[in-house]
Amino acid sequence: MDIKYNLKPASERRTEQFTPEGNVGFGKLRTDHMFLMDYRDGQWCDPRIVPYGPFEMAPGAMTLHYGQSIFEGAKAFMHDDGEIYTFRLNMNAQRMNRSADIVCIPNIDEQMQLDAINALIDVDRNWFPMQEGACLYIRPFIFATEDRLSVSPSQQYTFCVMLSPSGAYYSSGGVNEGIRLLITTKFHRAVSGGTGASKAAGNYAASLRAGKAAAEYGAAQVLYLDANNQQIEEVGAMNHFHILKDGTIIIPKFTDTILQSITSKSILELGDMLGCEVRQETVMLDKFIADIESGEIIEAGGFGTAAVVSPVTSYIFEDHRVITVGDGKVGPHIQKIYKVFTDIQKGLTQGPEGWVK
Ligand code: COI
Repeated sequence: MDIKYNLKPASERRTEQFTPEGNVGFGKLRTDHMFLMDYRDGQWCDPRIVPYGPFEMAPGAMTLHYGQSIFEGAKAFMHDDGEIYTFRLNMNAQRMNRSADIVCIPNIDEQMQLDAINALIDVDRNWFPMQEGACLYIRPFIFATEDRLSVSPSQQYTFCVMLSPSGAYYSSGGVNEGIRLLITTKFHRAVSGGTGASKAAGNYAASLRAGKAAAEYGAAQVLYLDANNQQIEEVGAMNHFHILKDGTIIIPKFTDTILQSITSKSILELGDMLGCEVRQETVMLDKFIADIESGEIIEAGGFGTAAVVSPVTSYIFEDHRVITVGDGKVGPHIQKIYKVFTDIQKGLTQGPEGWVK
């Protein structure tokens, strides 16, 4: 891909490695540049890296009215050799195209997506945050730009990649501190035949009201059930998992109402390194609760790019009933999963071929 570069003058760019003062946080910071490419006349064109800044967009741009917009979340890490490596970026590129299919956005060649991201990281490499546990969070997204008000797929789009030097997603939590989830029967994230399996922006807008309710219950997020309130689905910003007393990790079976987390998929492939079985199955809410109460389930949590491996130590229902997992503390299995997984990302352990590039 022939990328045009319109970079900031050196005097306005970060020229030394970024050492944040205090916790870098998640998603707050930006780097100097962004990648842009447009879709016009039936093709993606004009790939370019430009200074990070506002878009010019028509008030009638279809993304603003009908929400035709999708995004991805990926991470890059600095290894001991001082180079920056992305983690399973090809999976993000594939998922971007799956999301695109679900909301009728034209696909972008996977290699083109990877080239765009790698070129941007290269330009803004000094923004890698030199802080324990931090990374460059990569946010590619596509939105409809055609200025038209009839409801049908836009004929014009912009693909943008921006970077955010980031740390842990949850301000409370992280792998050493468990979070509480609200189990809601009132709010639902997705229904079969809908957009739940895509990273469509609207799915996240639809989760805000439930998130607000969760906060009122002292919970960090919501655990979504299927529309019949019988099965456990996912958490919105991460997939859900639990661990049986024999160490088996269970992730709810992917359906068209669950976003397929790349972290979940990775853990499913890491059974040998983790020394346990990892499998997917339909998880019924009643059995899940009964198994926590009987001690059959000993740990639970969430897998996600931003959330990494986040322990869940209690659940609260809308009638205020609280279910505590195990002794309410973060258990050893989750600590081990976190370490094995993040050591691969950071290049401290050799993971499967091609995961880190
Ligand atoms: C990610 O894990 O990268 C996500 O996209 C979740 C996001 C809503 C923070």
